[in-house]
Amino acid sequence: MDKLALAGRRAVVTGASRGIGASIALALAQAGADVAVTARSEVELEQVAEQIRAVGRRSLAVSSDVTDPAQVERLAAAVQAGLGGVDILVNNAGGGASHKFLNHPDELWQRMLLLNLTSVYYVTKAFVPAMVEQRWGRIMTIASTAAKVGGRYIAAYTAAKHGVLGLIRSLALELAPYQITVNAVCPGYVDTPMTQATIDNIVTRTGMSEAQARESLEKTSPQQRLINPDEIAALVVFLAQDTSYGITGQAINVDGGTVMA
Ligand SMILES: NC(=O)c1ccc[n+]([C@@H]2O[C@H](COP(=O)([O-])OP(=O)(O)OC[C@H]3O[C@@H](n4cnc5c(N)ncnc54)[C@H](OP(=O)(O)O)[C@@H]3O)[C@@H](O)[C@H]2O)c1
Repeated sequence: MDKLALAGRRAVVTGASRGIGASIALALAQAGADVAVTARSEVELEQVAEQIRAVGRRSLAVSSDVTDPAQVERLAAAVQAGLGGVDILVNNAGGGASHKFLNHPDELWQRMLLLNLTSVYYVTKAFVPAMVEQRWGRIMTIASTAAKVGGRYIAAYTAAKHGVLGLIRSLALELAPYQITVNAVCPGYVDTPMTQATIDNIVTRTGMSEAQARESLEKTSPQQRLINPDEIAALVVFLAQDTSYGITGQAINVDGGTVMA
């Protein structure tokens, strides 16, 4: 049998209890990696870890809040102890909330930046030293097409995701001497609980039916559909491989052709 592409690699995925993060964690395991999963919830997280073990890999479920640097430090120590190190980091935890800019709550601004940008800084800072020491690493951050273009009523989320690209591009340069690549994946609307919350919000605010609200999101894509989480996971697995060494500092859209820059 051919050796799996990620055999012997150790990965950590944030926000892995559901949605895109759970798909990524499972796809990395299917490609041969041992995978530590983290999110705040414990029950859902353990279920994902069980699925990973069922494909024959080691897994570790560590409950942790990525917005708290002390918890992130404990996460890094737990992964080091549990898997013996880390080769692949996927910064996936994040979330959106909308508000018109007039009377925008400062609390929402701070919360969106903390969850979608500063958390990526905390988590990456905690895991990079081990990668530098071993002179190999793959860092992927799930940004958004909102990292490339503006959107109405999502100023804070959009600013945070744009910020992620600044961070990963700078890190790609700084970490290049250590065989560490740093990239972002920029999804359009993906069929996950986060998008379901967006659909529910549209229903509440506009009176559309759920089907109409879903269709309004599908229509934003030239392919007239939502992206499947597995499509994001497939790109992450590709970027994690040895053969993707030449790809760094990139922000790759997976959005059915909605954004072409
Ligand atoms: N869905 C989309 O259409 C879409 C499009 C573009 C980009 N994205 C990005 O893709 C990523 C994943 O989105 P998704 O759709 O899979 O979202 P989701 O279904 O809401 O899942 C979010 C994940 O992040 C975790 N999480 C949230 N806050 C956290 C915190 N403070 N600390 C640790 N974990 C936390 C959640 O677990 P707990 O609640 O248990 O902590 C969950 O596992 C996000 O960064 C999002 O911005 C999504």
